[in-house]
Amino acid sequence: MSRDPLLQPFKLKHLTLRNRLLLTAHEPAYAENGMPKERYRAYHVERARAGIALTMTAGSASVARDSAPAFNNILAWKDEVVGWMRKLVDECHEHGAAVMIQLTHLGRRTRWDAGDWLPVVSASEQREPAHRAVPKRLEDWDIERITKDYGDAAERMKAAGLDGIEIMANGHLLDQLWSPRTNDLDAPYGGSLDDRMRFTFDVLTEVRRRVGPGFIVGVRYVGDETVPDGLSKADGLEISRRLKSSGMVDFLNVVRGHIDTDAGLTDMIPLQGMPSAPHLDFAGEIRSATDFPTFHAGRIPDVATARHAIASGKLDMVGMTRAHLADPEILAKVIAGEEERIRPCVGANYCIDRASKGQEALCIHNPATGRETLGLNRIDHAGKPRRVVIVGAGPAGMEAARVAALRGHDVIVHEAASDPGGQIRLTARTERRREMLSIISWRFDECVRAGVTFHFNSLADAEVVLGEGADDIIIATGGLPNDEVLTTGNGLVVSSWDILAGDVEPGANVLIEDGAGDAAGLQAAEAVVSAGGRVEITTRDRTVSPEVMGMSLTPAMRKLQPAGAIFTVGWRVSAVTQEGNELVAELSSDYGDFKATRRVDQVVVNHGTLPLDELYFDLKPLSANLGAVDYDALVEGRPQAVERNPEGRFRLFRIGDAVASRDTHAAIYDGLRLARCI
Ligand SMILES: Cc1cc2nc3c(=O)[nH]c(=O)nc-3n(C[C@H](O)[C@H](O)[C@H](O)COP(=O)(O)O)c2cc1C
Ligand code: SF4
Repeated sequence: MSRDPLLQPFKLKHLTLRNRLLLTAHEPAYAENGMPKERYRAYHVERARAGIALTMTAGSASVARDSAPAFNNILAWKDEVVGWMRKLVDECHEHGAAVMIQLTHLGRRTRWDAGDWLPVVSASEQREPAHRAVPKRLEDWDIERITKDYGDAAERMKAAGLDGIEIMANGHLLDQLWSPRTNDLDAPYGGSLDDRMRFTFDVLTEVRRRVGPGFIVGVRYVGDETVPDGLSKADGLEISRRLKSSGMVDFLNVVRGHIDTDAGLTDMIPLQGMPSAPHLDFAGEIRSATDFPTFHAGRIPDVATARHAIASGKLDMVGMTRAHLADPEILAKVIAGEEERIRPCVGANYCIDRASKGQEALCIHNPATGRETLGLNRIDHAGKPRRVVIVGAGPAGMEAARVAALRGHDVIVHEAASDPGGQIRLTARTERRREMLSIISWRFDECVRAGVTFHFNSLADAEVVLGEGADDIIIATGGLPNDEVLTTGNGLVVSSWDILAGDVEPGANVLIEDGAGDAAGLQAAEAVVSAGGRVEITTRDRTVSPEVMGMSLTPAMRKLQPAGAIFTVGWRVSAVTQEGNELVAELSSDYGDFKATRRVDQVVVNHGTLPLDELYFDLKPLSANLGAVDYDALVEGRPQAVERNPEGRFRLFRIGDAVASRDTHAAIYDGLRLARCI
């Protein structure tokens, strides 16, 4: 038997969990009409198969109609859910994983224009900044009906064969009653802590009445809101003791912070550049104060930290939730002694930022996640090896190289720079985004292991590439900044890349024309303020940086706001002229023939990239497919078989930003899909 603390079983009531890793609840927004169907099931089964001990399905499965599915939540208030959950549970059980579900009433953490357009309820009329719905204050009949709804949902889950449920009290309705800053009800549901917790105990009593004493029931809750008018740590300890001593709860799953704003959510679920495991010690304090089964997750991204959390006695079960979005096979790799091969979670929060918008949760560098039904994680041997030459070692090229090599092909990569990484290298020059490099270093190690040959500092032209005698040539050369966007003065501006790469010093008074709305614009602005400059960002969009999602915006705002950065929406720089030492920028608007001007010493243009495609077009007439891609075959994972030129001796493809400016996930997905079908 292994001595690894992570691989020790844990006894929770009558249930033996086979190791110490759990997936905490996370709504991936894969539900179809509110039901966890095939895609949802496949996602959990994949992780069960690889060894997870417990998967807490859903995230915020709604117990009531007026807990509207703001992020495509599972509708646990429908009887139909039982059949779907039973299928999911049965399949996960076959692979040895325990299955529970998080049940909730979202309270004000949703919208009235989702679901059935019912009014949102809470313990006050204050709206949650994140979801913006103004709630009605709970009435007696709301309390009665929601209490019963919890009982109904718990009973459904027991009927579906789940191992237990988790009642959610973190930023959702129950906690909206707990917290003095969101509860202005009168007694008996507002006022003292006794009264603010009364509804939770009503719910737990009803749940127990319906599922009996043997069924596992836990609570996920906030143990310290970390804001002056919220629940304090002392409150959290008291709440923990009360939950335990109620005798109705079997485990505590504790978090710290508040989730009513993007910034609060980011501190609770920290992203790249923020400290690892910031709330672990706090969770450990709860465990030692209560001596009760304690679960916790919060940027414990690697098995070494998880192991420490168990070995030091801080936790009984440790959540590695995003880590399992990035690599479903963590436990299989730990058990096989291949920890160094775990695909690292780089904390980009692409997954949760998308899910918070109700979009399917996807991992920035594992396109197979959420697409388990397509079997993208299974890379089959091609049978007949081909010689594959890839030009460009950015994310798209590296993924294509990895997958093509795993398929048994002879893979050669030419890269003009001295290191792999492409645009990711530029992104990672901002210290807080340095972890992005792991997207490349993990792929590089996997490529080397699979026998890929790399030529760095190799500016491959058509002659070099043709000299390789390839069967397939993949152009993954990326793009170059699109910085000729003005009617006048293109020669007077620099690009965001010039600033990020350090090729141009940031000015003292800088205007950033942000047409792309992506992270590069913000990172260029951060470089300006870091160098002591003043910055204004203009965008014709309605909002700041629309491609940078909620939590990802937080660290940038924390840098830019205190430095006095100005965000000007609805205006774009259309022309720049020089007057003495100054640049005069003319701003125009899509809303009318309005003009404004700014006098600055530097204008930075951030308009994404244009494809670096010269090599592709040089090779295109010589190729067998003339560059054409069979999109149906690509999407369905069938071999590419387009023949358009009988003289051609190789097939030619291009991927990533060499086709069109997109994001890292899109580039990697291009590489994976193409390499699977050559
Ligand atoms: C896509 C996504 C959706 C989430 N949704 C929920 C949710 O509905 N309920 C919840 O309690 N936590 C939710 N979480 C938070 C996770 O349970 C976990 O606390 C968080 O990801 C931090 O743990 P980690 O660093 O191991 O990922 C979500 C996380 C992700 C990534
Ligand atoms: S998107 Fe980023 S945070 Fe989410 S799982 Fe992938 S690497 Fe981790």
